[in-house]
Parts: sequence; structure tokens; C-alpha cells
Amino acid sequence: MSTPATSPSATPTPKPHEPATPVMAATSTAIVGLQWGDEGKGKIVNLLTDRHDAIVRYNGGANAGHSVVVKGERFALHLIPSGIMHADKPAIVGPGVVIDPEWLLKEVAGLRNRGVSCENLVISDHAHVVMPWHKLEDELREAFLSANSVEPIGTTRRGIGPCYADKAQRSTAIRVADLLRPKVLSQKLATIVPFKNAVLAAIARPGSTFVPYDHRTQLEQFAALGEQLRPFVTGASKLLLDMAHSGKSILFEGANATLLDVDHGTYPFVTSSTCSALGAPAGAGVPFTCVRSILGVMKAYSTRVGGGVMPTELINSDADRAIADGIRQRGREFGTTTGRPRRVGWLDLVAVRYSARLNGVHGLCLMLLDVLAGVDTLMVADRYEVDGSPTNTFVPDAHWLAGARPIYRSFPGFSADITAARTLGELPTQARTYMEFIEQTIGVPIRFVSVGPDRAQTIEC
Ligand code: IMP
Repeated sequence: MSTPATSPSATPTPKPHEPATPVMAATSTAIVGLQWGDEGKGKIVNLLTDRHDAIVRYNGGANAGHSVVVKGERFALHLIPSGIMHADKPAIVGPGVVIDPEWLLKEVAGLRNRGVSCENLVISDHAHVVMPWHKLEDELREAFLSANSVEPIGTTRRGIGPCYADKAQRSTAIRVADLLRPKVLSQKLATIVPFKNAVLAAIARPGSTFVPYDHRTQLEQFAALGEQLRPFVTGASKLLLDMAHSGKSILFEGANATLLDVDHGTYPFVTSSTCSALGAPAGAGVPFTCVRSILGVMKAYSTRVGGGVMPTELINSDADRAIADGIRQRGREFGTTTGRPRRVGWLDLVAVRYSARLNGVHGLCLMLLDVLAGVDTLMVADRYEVDGSPTNTFVPDAHWLAGARPIYRSFPGFSADITAARTLGELPTQARTYMEFIEQTIGVPIRFVSVGPDRAQTIEC
């Protein structure tokens, strides 16, 4: 049934050569993380790229880290969409992404060294550029919070927040397009460099010597980076819009995750973009009706990096910490971006159910199930106790979350190595009971189960 917005009567008469409503592609899919990131989205994106015509990253920057294992080879990607491995499909860095050009070019060079051509990489000229002062400000802000006994956000120090802040400020922002126009870049830097020098000198750590940025050096460096980026900057917005309007299927690759969403995550311990599926159309630049299907990616347990409360964190006793250590080692739970050990906890279905509802997911991808092998008893929080009463409501606010105590259900664990399982029938009964509880609690079917890092180690349900 068509909605009023797309019904012929509600739509202005389109010109014959330029329809105003897109031809729907039944298979356009958004892939989003349902926890605090690092759920394994890269693997699912890589798997589903075959079924789509293009892949687009719509948010975040080099703070994201996607590991993709292809034929036993591990690729760690930060800015480049995981779909880059499929040379015949455009892998697009959308306008909602913030780009550190040096980082991106390093990633391209690394991929090329390993035989990935990157000919299919397309960068939006409207994406914003992370400048050196963004990274410095990120660092200084975190240091300021620590020095004033305030819990820092625990950012990746990649300049993400300050870059998005400048995007909102406008007059101190630089877009990729500006790097390709030296005159414009020079004019912009003439205002931005002194402004940033003044601000940074004022907030620099006491006793540290802040070395002011030089307009000319920055101009030379970023104009040169622009030239290197130029072959990839080919009107991503038009390309995406044309694809959307001609019924091509687009895979929207979410970075970071729903609980880190700037509006809907555990604020203020979040990142600075809309990383839920709600950000996909805006960050890619296509009508929201193009996002036809939404897959939520979740681990079989919880992890988090950086600051902020994590109600089910395994931290309260030596026994808890030993379980967390085991999961951390088996699941390689160390940041792809910063190498930080990730905080580990039991599965929190209060949080995942919230994320699933916010995104409106159609299916779940349950990742890293194999990592739980050997844990005697699996605990799952399906309610919190807040102010003495049980609730299954999740409030995306760090202060509220600090008062939430998880209420657990326990499930018998499984000891068998399941990394070779390729059908649901090959999974131990205990694993299937665990999965059924997840499906029932969230009310959404599991579509994929991942039992190892390789794309072959996947069960499609
Ligand atoms: P920022 O994005 O660097 O500003 O960091 C803000 C918060 O989000 C920090 O707690 C980071 O650790 C976290 N974060 C950002 N990106 C990711 C990600 O891709 N995975 C996990 N945590 C992330």
C-alpha cells in the first residue's frame, strides 16, 4: 500500500524526463549497529554488497573501524566503505562523512598495496574536511575535562566532534570541494587559521607551547591533498540521486552505532553524527523512501570503548573480569581504530531492543556467537531496575543510565567450537535457545548469524 507522500495524487505532476518520486528498489538496505559500535557491520556490508548496486557511507569519519576478512586476509578500514572490495560497484563516501584526507589517502595506498584497486571509490565534494586543528581541539577538550575532574568522552582523538561543530558553524568549515579550488581554499584559510590560532592558544594546556598554524603551509598541504583526492571526487550527490531515482539498490553502511548517535544515543557519551538508520538518507543525500530494509547488527554480548555507563559491564568481581578477559581475547576486542581494549559486558537486550525500535529494523545480524563458547552460564539483561521498579524502557541519557541496574536471566552456555557451523541445525541447542530469547525479546527475526570473522563463517537464516 502506498503512503500519502508517494501516492500519485499527493505528488506534483513530474516532468516526463525527471520523475520527482524515485522508482523503488526493493533491495536498498541500511546496515546499522545496535550497540556501542564494533558489532561487525563491515562483514555484513561486505556480504551484502553482492546484492546491491552501490555502497555508501553516510556518517562519521576515521573514528570508525571496520574489519573485513576476505579469503583469510584481514582488512581494517576506517573511512573507506567496506564495499570497496567489490571493484564493480561504486563505494561512495557520502556528504555526511567527515574526511581526514591524509588518512583516507593512506588507506587507499594500503589497499592498493594489497591488490585492491580503489578505482570504484567515489568521494562526495560536500563531505567536510577534518583539519589538524580539529584533532588538536579534540585532544585539548578531553584533557580539559580530565584536568577538571570531569569524565572525558573518551573520544578517538580523530577530530570528529570539532569538525562536525565547524560544519554547523559554517564559516570555519572546509568541504572537500574547497580543496579542489585553491583560491577559495586560500580565502577560507585566511579567516580560519587566525581564528583557530586564537582559540587554541587560549585553551592550550597550561605550560604547553602551542605552535600557531601557518596559513601558507596549510594551503600548500591541503591543496596538494586535494589534488590527490581529485580523481575520486566525481559528483557523488548526483550519482546517488540518479541511482536512487532509477531504482538501483543502495547499501547504506552505518559507521559507529545507534547508542553513539548524537541525538538518540547515551548522550553525552556519544559521537557527533546521526549513526542510526535515521541518518542514512540525510548523510547519503537520497529520499528517505529509498531505505527499504534495515538490518540491525549486534554482538552476542556487549562491548564499549570510551567513557559512559554500560549497565551490564563485567567489572564487579574477579570472576566477572575473568569472563570479560576471555571474551576480549577470543573476540579480539581491541579497537580497530585506537587499539584500546574494549570494555566487555553481558548482552543488554534493554538497550538493543531500544535501538531496534528506533531504527525500525526488519532483521537482526547476530555476530561473534562463537566467542561465547566455553562460558558456563550466559547472562542476558532484559529489564533494568530504576528507582526500585523494573522496566524494559531504555532512556538514551547517561545520567538516567547511571541509575539503572540490570536484571538478568541466565541461560546454560555451550562449549562446542561452532566456527564450522553453516546451518542453524549445526548449532548446539543452548546456542539456539539463546538466539530464540533474543528474537522474542526484540520481536525481530535473526537473519544472519556470524560464527567467525571470515565471510564464509556465516549462517543465513
Ligand atoms: P569520537 O567519535 O571520536 O568523538 O568519540 C566519541 C565516542 O564514540 C567515544 O566513546 C568513542 O570511543 C566512541 N566511538 C566512536 N566511533 C566508534 C566506533 O566506531 N566504535 C566504537 N566506539 C566508537
